[in-house]
Amino acid sequence: MKISVQVKSRERVASHGEVFTAEREVKAMCNLVAAQCRDIHATFLEPACGDGNFLAEILTRKLSSITDDHERNSLIALSSLYGIDILDDNVNACRQRLFGIWDSHAEHSQPAKIQAARILQHNIVCGDSLKPASITFTEWTFRDDDIVPEGKEFVLASLMKEDTQQIAIPFE
Ligand SMILES: C[S@@+](CC[C@H](N)C(=O)[O-])C[C@H]1O[C@@H](n2cnc3c(N)ncnc32)[C@H](O)[C@@H]1O
Repeated sequence: MKISVQVKSRERVASHGEVFTAEREVKAMCNLVAAQCRDIHATFLEPACGDGNFLAEILTRKLSSITDDHERNSLIALSSLYGIDILDDNVNACRQRLFGIWDSHAEHSQPAKIQAARILQHNIVCGDSLKPASITFTEWTFRDDDIVPEGKEFVLASLMKEDTQQIAIPFE
């Protein structure tokens, strides 16, 4: 039986509500949007990502759906995932975890590894999700046959409806 740690310390629970979601619940929630989890282009944002429980599961599903051009498509899949956490150590753990999943999925060239690290540096960020005007992300565009995407920065608040402050990212 796999035992996952849901709490690191009492202090972190009290200060940041840090209780990690168990794998069973992560999988069950991802099953609710199963088609999007297989779509390498579908965008996901985990606004309190911790070490990336949801992003890791989604990345695993996206990668397993790739049938051709693995290097480029796996980078597209990686570039579709965004995360925010207020704790620096969680951000670093999330980046490393996603890189490990991406890297162990297939044999990758050194230039692809550099791009994966670049994408994660911009997509998994340290910040306060409740202050979306302070969060800057990067949208990635891959030209045909190229593994080096063009990045365009945007502020998270620009995706939110002004009246409701709800995130307006449509699922396909
Ligand atoms: C309940 S844990 C969930 C972690 C992960 N999403 C999961 O389901 O396993 C909440 C996380 O949110 C982070 N957090 C708390 N307040 C936050 C804020 N205002 N902005 C971003 N992250 C925050 C904590 O550091 C913690 O890692």
